Amino acid sequence: MRRNIVAGNWKMNLNYSEAVDLINELNAYDKPLNTELIVAPPSLYLGAFKDAQNNLLLSAQNVHTELNGAFTGEISSTMLHSLSIPYCIVGHSERRTLFHETDALIFDKVKSLLSHEISPIFCCGESKEEREQGDAYKVISQQLNLLLSKLDAGQIQQTIIAYEPVWAIGTGLTASPEDAQLMHHHIRKEIAQHFDVSVSENISLLYGGSCKPENAAALFSKQDIDGGLIGGASLDFSSFISIAKSFS
Ligand code: PGA
Repeated sequence: MRRNIVAGNWKMNLNYSEAVDLINELNAYDKPLNTELIVAPPSLYLGAFKDAQNNLLLSAQNVHTELNGAFTGEISSTMLHSLSIPYCIVGHSERRTLFHETDALIFDKVKSLLSHEISPIFCCGESKEEREQGDAYKVISQQLNLLLSKLDAGQIQQTIIAYEPVWAIGTGLTASPEDAQLMHHHIRKEIAQHFDVSVSENISLLYGGSCKPENAAALFSKQDIDGGLIGGASLDFSSFISIAKSFS
C-alpha cells in the first residue's frame, strides 16, 4: 500500500549504547501520524530491538539468498522472519559496488525476502558518469527489469523502491526535487507498463542521497516522491524526526 515513509539506514554506525539511546528517543517521540518510520540498524542489534517497534518498524540492511548453511557471517530471510523483521534493504549502491552484487543476485534476495513475508526496500541508482552520459533512465530501467518482469502484482506491491543516485549518497549533493520527480515518474510509468496504473499508484517510491531537514520538504512535496531513505541524517534524532515531519 502506498504510504509516506521515512527510513533510516544506519549502515555500519553507532555502538550498542548509542543505538539503544536513539531507538528509545524515537519510540518516546510523538510521531507524525501520516508517516511510517523505519529504522535499519546493523543486523547485530535487530534481535534486541525487535520488541521496540512502537513508533517505528525495523529493517535489516542485507540478507543472503540461501536460507541456511555454511555461509560464515551471513544472515537469512528465515532468521529475519523468525524475529518478525518486516523490511530488508537490498540493492544498495554500497552493496552493488563494494560487494560486487549483481542484478541477478539482488533479485534472488528479493525473492527470498518476499517468500518469507519481508518487504524488500529495493534500491536503484545511476552513477555520476551514467547521468552525465545521459544514461540515467536506461540504468534505472535495467536495474528494475528483473523485478518488473518476474514478480507478480502482489509481490511488487509489497516492495518499496528507493531511487538513490549514487553521486548523491553521502556526498552532500542532492538531486533537485525536479530531477528526482522525473526519475520517480519514470519508475512509476515503468511499473504501470509492466502491470497497470492501479499497481504503480499503490507503491511507495523513496528518494535517497543526502536527504536532510533542509531539502526533505521540497523533495517530499513532489507527486511521485513518497518519502526518503536517509543515511547520515538518520543517525541524529532531531534531523531524522525533522525529515519525518516534512510531509505537507
Ligand atoms: P545519505 O545515504 O543520506 O548519507 O546520502 C543515503 C543512503 O545511502 O541510503
